[in-house]
Amino acid sequence: MAKPVNNTESQLMDKLVSLCKRRGFIFQSSEIYGGLNGAWDYGPLGVELLRNVKDEWWKNMTYREDIEGLDAAILMHPRVWEASGHVENFTDPMVDCKQCKSRYRLDILFEEISIKKQKDVLREIDPQRFQGQQKDEFISEQFKKISDSSPDAVIKVLSCPSCGNKGTFTDARKFNLMFKTFVGPVEDSGAVVYLRPETAQGIFVNFLNVQSSSRQKLPFGIAQIGKAFRNEINTKNFLFRTREFEQMEMQFFVKPGTDDKWFEYWREQRMQWFIDLGMKKDKLQWHQHAPDKLAHYAKDAFDIEYLFPFGWGEIEGIHNRTNFDLSRHEEYSGKTLKYFDEETKEKFTPFIIETSAGASRSLMAFLVNAYHEEEAPSAEGKMEQRIVMKFHPKLAPIKAAIFPLVNRDGMPEISKKIERELRPHLRVFYDDSGAVGRRYRRQDEVGTPYCITIDSQTLEDQTVTIRERDSMVQERVATDQLLSYFRTKFTFG
Ligand code: GAP
Repeated sequence: MAKPVNNTESQLMDKLVSLCKRRGFIFQSSEIYGGLNGAWDYGPLGVELLRNVKDEWWKNMTYREDIEGLDAAILMHPRVWEASGHVENFTDPMVDCKQCKSRYRLDILFEEISIKKQKDVLREIDPQRFQGQQKDEFISEQFKKISDSSPDAVIKVLSCPSCGNKGTFTDARKFNLMFKTFVGPVEDSGAVVYLRPETAQGIFVNFLNVQSSSRQKLPFGIAQIGKAFRNEINTKNFLFRTREFEQMEMQFFVKPGTDDKWFEYWREQRMQWFIDLGMKKDKLQWHQHAPDKLAHYAKDAFDIEYLFPFGWGEIEGIHNRTNFDLSRHEEYSGKTLKYFDEETKEKFTPFIIETSAGASRSLMAFLVNAYHEEEAPSAEGKMEQRIVMKFHPKLAPIKAAIFPLVNRDGMPEISKKIERELRPHLRVFYDDSGAVGRRYRRQDEVGTPYCITIDSQTLEDQTVTIRERDSMVQERVATDQLLSYFRTKFTFG
């Protein structure tokens, strides 16, 4: 039996980042030039894992009769972003330290101030009210009130967390998170386009194209996976907040009045998707947006949050977007995006239920969820430590490893034959170097669910050992049954 080993939260994060680099999951972007903040490269195993996450989502969404797929361009007409509200509203308030040039998002700067500093700030702003002993809850409540109503007054008496200087912050300014670029050779305002900050708008503007070409009737959805870009002020926590990332979004178009029912339906479906792929239930929770925190387009919104080592973080948002998006695109384009219901002969603008997951952020949650350190018995029965990535088999980058016990007695030939048979169907890995125990550990560390060993018994009865990653239980399977064994495990054709 394996026994879990406990890590502190920061140890766990450091170990995960180091494993991701060492084993070829994730590399820092442009590492040899010192890296580029907020961008990451997916190595051979990372790209496979990401593809598996996206494939599972794609199959779950589009292998049903009421959802169609789409792949819209990243560059869109600039009016799209005026209609969507991104030009006006997709901003974060930001301040700069004039002394050391550090830049902060105002809300995050305020969030990270200790109670002691909050007290100091309040006493400086209003010495009469904030004297003597006062409860911490009272202080943090008052600090929130004042920082919401008069942020500039707070900034003036704050010290910069980087250089420690006081009163060196600029006033708060709005900073638009969209990356701008230009189409064509002339770099003037008429040529500005944006890298899309979400994939959703490509779906909205194509609503009628997809509906009429696929002859779908309401309710139906459009699903899309693709890159999105946000010029985040603070990138942090590995893949959690990056400037370039991938989204998996589905917009479900419904008749107004049926939206609440579909909202509940999609909430349930989306939570179940994560659970079915092995996410621990106690690491998942719902966060409902308070009415005053709802996005400008939303009637109701829930986030699915995962408990990362640094705390709870959103991995997917489910929004009731009402008819905001289609109405705005009608208004800005002058083209109708109304739906004609053949049965009732009504014409109306559908409501939209959105499910919006980060592919890269979900991948990070799957990585954290999979990481385990255990004390486990070695081949000789001695207890030793193993790192094991307990990915759901559908997500595992390598599905099976093939080991000839020794490189003689015909074992390599049988092993190679098995490799040739399995490779067209599964991503397999051939390893003939070192003791079998070490080969197991190498595969545990990248989450390979099955290891096949070809040994002396294989020569006698044409069976091999299959060892399952998590339980480490071994069974013997006939070599001519291997394909059907894995077919039942991975359901391939
Ligand atoms: N269309 C709605 C929309 O884009 P969002 O909450 O801004 O909503 C949806 O983003 C999902 O995209 C988030 O739940 C998260 O998983 C992912 N995401 C957003 N910003 C991200 C970033 N800077 N880095 C990585 N993933 C991000």
